Amino acid sequence: MNIQTAMAGLQQKGFLDLELDAELDLFAEIERLKKEKNTILLAHYYQEPDIQDVADYIGDSLGLAQKARETNADIIVFAGVHFMAETAKILNPGKKVLLPDLKAGCSLADSAPAPLFRAFKEKHPDHLVVSYINCTADIKALSDIICTSSNAEKIIESIPADQPIIFAPDKNLGAWLNKKTGRNMLLWNGACMVHEIFSLEKITKLKIRHPRAKVIAHPECEDAVLAVADYIGSTTQLLKYSQTDSATEYIVATETGILHQMQLSSPEKTFIPAPPNNNCACNDCPHMKLNTLEKLYLCMQYEQPEILMDEDLRLAAKKPIDRMLEISKAAGLIG
Ligand code: 13P
Ligand code: SF4
Repeated sequence: MNIQTAMAGLQQKGFLDLELDAELDLFAEIERLKKEKNTILLAHYYQEPDIQDVADYIGDSLGLAQKARETNADIIVFAGVHFMAETAKILNPGKKVLLPDLKAGCSLADSAPAPLFRAFKEKHPDHLVVSYINCTADIKALSDIICTSSNAEKIIESIPADQPIIFAPDKNLGAWLNKKTGRNMLLWNGACMVHEIFSLEKITKLKIRHPRAKVIAHPECEDAVLAVADYIGSTTQLLKYSQTDSATEYIVATETGILHQMQLSSPEKTFIPAPPNNNCACNDCPHMKLNTLEKLYLCMQYEQPEILMDEDLRLAAKKPIDRMLEISKAAGLIG
C-alpha cells in the first residue's frame, strides 16, 4: 500500500476528521495505549515538547535506529519523519511501525529522487556510495553504507583513503566531512530546508549582544555558519555538549525542538535559537512539526497510518544500514 492509498483509507474511515473530546487526557490515554498494545513510542529531538515528554525514548537518528532494532515491543510508533519510520521498518519487518502523519517528509530526502541518483551513480562506477540516513529506502538500496551525523566521520574514516566516494544527499554535511577527513568526496546537491536558513549576519549581531554565548551548530548548516561555531555535532552531541560545557549561554543553530531537552537538563543555562535569514519560524521543521499529540493518540488507537514496504526493497536497504551499525559498534559509538 502506498502513502496515497493509506491516507485515503484513513480519510474513508474518518480518522483524519475525528473531533477529539476536549476533556480527554491525551497523556494518560497514550500511556494506557502503550501498555495495552505493547507499544514503544520513539521520538526525535525535533518533535514538539509534549510528544518528547510522553515518549519512551528520545534521540537522534542513530540512537533511534538502534532502539528500533533492539525493541521487544509489538508496535513501534515513530514520532519523527517518514525516512525514520521507514528505517525502523527496514530493521524490524515483523513489527507494526506507525507514523502519526504520513505526510511528515523531509526536504533533504526529497532532494535525491532515486532515478536521478541511480543515473549519477552509474556515471561513477568506481565510487563507493555513502548516504546520510535522511534519504528514502530507494536511495538506501542504492548505497553501500549509511551514516548519521553522529557517526559520519567514523564511517568515512573506516573506508580506505584511496577509495573514491559519492556522498549523498546533504552537500553541507558532505563538505564538512571533506574538511574534517581530508577526503574529496563527490557531493550530491541536496540540503535541509531548516539548517540552510540560518543567517550569519543575524548570528553575528546576536553574538555582539551576548558576548559570552557559544554558537553550537548541526553539520547540516552551511559552511559560513559552521565557520563561526564553537562546537559542531549531531543533536545528541549538541545536547551532551550543552550539559558538560562550562558556558551558560548558547546560540543553537539547529531545529528548535532540541532546546526543550537542553533547557530541561540545564535549567540554569540560556539557550537562544539561531535566527533564520527571514522573519518566519523557519528553524521549526515543518515536517517534524506535522506530528501532534492528537495525531499520536489517533494513530495508536487505530494502529494507522502504518509503514509498509516491498520485501526486496527492504532487504536491499537493510544491507547498508547493517554495515553502518557494525562500524558504529566497532567504533564504540553504540552498545
Ligand atoms: P540527527 O538526528 O542525526 O542529529 O539529524 C538531524 C536531522 O536533521 C534529523 O532530521
Ligand atoms: Fe529533513 Fe531537515 Fe526536517 Fe531533518 S530538519 S527532517 S533533515 S527537513
